[in-house]
This record gives sequence, C-alpha cells and structure tokens, in this order.
Amino acid sequence: MRDQLKRAAATAAIELVEEGMLVGLGTGSTADHVLELLGERVAGGLTMTGVSTSERTATRARELGIPLRVFESGLSIDLAIDGADEVSPQLDLIKGLGGALLREKQVESCAEQLVIIVDDSKLVERLGRGPLPVEVATDDADATLAQLRALGCEVELRRNADTPFVTDNGNCIVHISFAAGIDDPVALDARLLALPGVIDTGLFLGMADVVFCSGPEGVQRLERTV
Ligand code: A5P
Repeated sequence: MRDQLKRAAATAAIELVEEGMLVGLGTGSTADHVLELLGERVAGGLTMTGVSTSERTATRARELGIPLRVFESGLSIDLAIDGADEVSPQLDLIKGLGGALLREKQVESCAEQLVIIVDDSKLVERLGRGPLPVEVATDDADATLAQLRALGCEVELRRNADTPFVTDNGNCIVHISFAAGIDDPVALDARLLALPGVIDTGLFLGMADVVFCSGPEGVQRLERTV
C-alpha cells in the first residue's frame, strides 16, 4: 500500500517534466519511482538530462537509460524531484535518512522548482518527530558528537553494522533527536552549521515549492505560501 502511495505521488510529479529539461534526481524509495517513470518516458522519446543526488541514484538512472550530467555549483536546474522524511505545514523538510543529504541540498538549491513527493505518513505538525540527520566530517568526529550532545539532544552515529556509515562525500552521518521535537528549525540549523565539524544538516527550510502528498483519498498538491 505505501509503495502504491509513493508511486502515485511520483506519477503526479513526473508530469511536470518537459522536453529538454535538466532535472535533479532525488534519492530514496519514493524517488526510485520517479526514476522508473522517467526511464519509461525517455524510452518513449523524451529528451531530458538528469543530475543525480547520490551514487545510488546515478547507478539506477544509468540502468534505466536516463542521460546524466555531472553536478557543478551554479548549474541551472529546471526542476528537482525528491522524497522527504518529514514535511511541516510550512513545507519545511527533514531529509537525509537515506544518507544523501549533502548532495541533495547542493543539487536542489540550484533548482528553479523543488517538488517533494511523499505519502501522508511524512506530514508532521512540527519537525523533529524522528531523528534529524547531520553530515559531519570524519576528522575529529568525536569532538563534533560532543558539541552536538551539548545542544541538549540525543546523538547517534549512523552505522552500517559495526562501522560508521560513510556518505558519497566521505563524511559521517549523526542522527540527533530532541524529546519535544524542533522548536525553531531556522535557529537550530544556524547553530548546527556554526559547529566546525558540521558539513550540512537535513533541514531543508524554505526550499520546497510544491509537495505532492499521496494518501487513501488521492494525491494532494500543497504549495508553499511564504
Ligand atoms: C535521502 O537521503 C533522503 O533525503 C530521502 O529523500 C528521504 O530519506 C526519503 O526517503 P524515502 O522516500 O525512502 O522515504
């Protein structure tokens, strides 16, 4: 059922892809549906180019015959489509539980339009229902973990079995959680980014233009108003 909801949201988003577009390709189980649907459209004659947000997405896109170009800062991307872990009523997001937040933020901040696709389990009243992923430098990661803990949150280094998870950019991911959720996402983001070992956070604030949210009643289109 969840998978059908993800597919329905992806189907709505894919209609925004037009001939000749440069499209940011997200990462995760919902974004995988976009890749499959785009692959079908490319096979049917659509000309477009993708910019991947992860090695995993790049591999899948190649398998599906989607042409890719390498990301570079300042690139003008027409549209980016990606999933999210949490979506607030203001369309602020937590992303990165798939481990690709840095490249996602790099690509998606260059997009003229960022479209998020979720099923209704991702809608929250307040961000921070689940953990917030933070990408940190591997050098002196223990010191960064201690600085994060000093902010009053639970801190957990993401692991793959016994070894720390390593991102496509060679960094670690730390999941931080606040018992009562995140009070002020903008202030928290600034405090996190001010820590020397923090590379980026999974807070995507003021970035999403449109959210396609899929539930039992169908797909709802939510637009950012501020
Ligand atoms: C990847 O790093 C993430 O930002 C994903 O977009 C997010 O975790 C949503 O993933 P799912 O679509 O698999 O829930």
